[in-house]
Amino acid sequence: MIVTIDGIAASGKSSVSSGVARALGIPYLSSGLLYRAATLLGLEGGADLNDEAAVLAALHTHPVHLEPLAEGNRVWQGSRDLTDDLHSSTVDHGVSVVAVLPGVRAWVNDQLRQVPPPFVAEGRDMGTNVFPHAPAKFYLTASPRVRAQRRAAERPEDIDAIEAALIRRDELDHVQSAPAQDAHVIDTGPLDLNGVIGAILAGVRR
Ligand code: CDP
Repeated sequence: MIVTIDGIAASGKSSVSSGVARALGIPYLSSGLLYRAATLLGLEGGADLNDEAAVLAALHTHPVHLEPLAEGNRVWQGSRDLTDDLHSSTVDHGVSVVAVLPGVRAWVNDQLRQVPPPFVAEGRDMGTNVFPHAPAKFYLTASPRVRAQRRAAERPEDIDAIEAALIRRDELDHVQSAPAQDAHVIDTGPLDLNGVIGAILAGVRR
């Protein structure tokens, strides 16, 4: 079984996917963390983030590996754990530039498709492009303000700056962020975390 949970920036995908995966007793895969790792390593390698060859070269210096723990994914480059460096504002600002590079998308998708099911896959295009035959697909939305309020707990900037950055990332990501036609769209604004997890579990078990 594959469950896909896609959605816009800060719509709650990671926490929701972790909760759904734990309830089902299966792993979850965060595709966004791999895009973030590509961005971090590109920046550290001094790459221009528009330069696909330079970003891919930075990724290939040591193998990058997604560890799909249900309580929270981790990303390793060789023996270095990159995870805690992947949610900085610097990575937030660069990641949408890196995510349009076809070679980077192929690099992420290859890694995800090597994982044996069952799992929950989380991102933007899990239900449309990467796992189009998944039997259970969900797409999370919420207003920019609600998303900025949630993310303000995880970033040092003020809420208006966070909201502006989220709106900009929505625009840059819109090509790969369309919901699958067969996805259940959930507005997470009025729901708490357990409410969203419960709605998805009800849909999976239906
Ligand atoms: O948690 P948040 O929604 O802020 O971001 P994320 O899921 O960690 O994704 C970070 C970025 O990776 C997104 O803004 C997209 O640019 C890119 N991404 C993508 O293009 N396709 C995916 N399947 C997942 C992420």
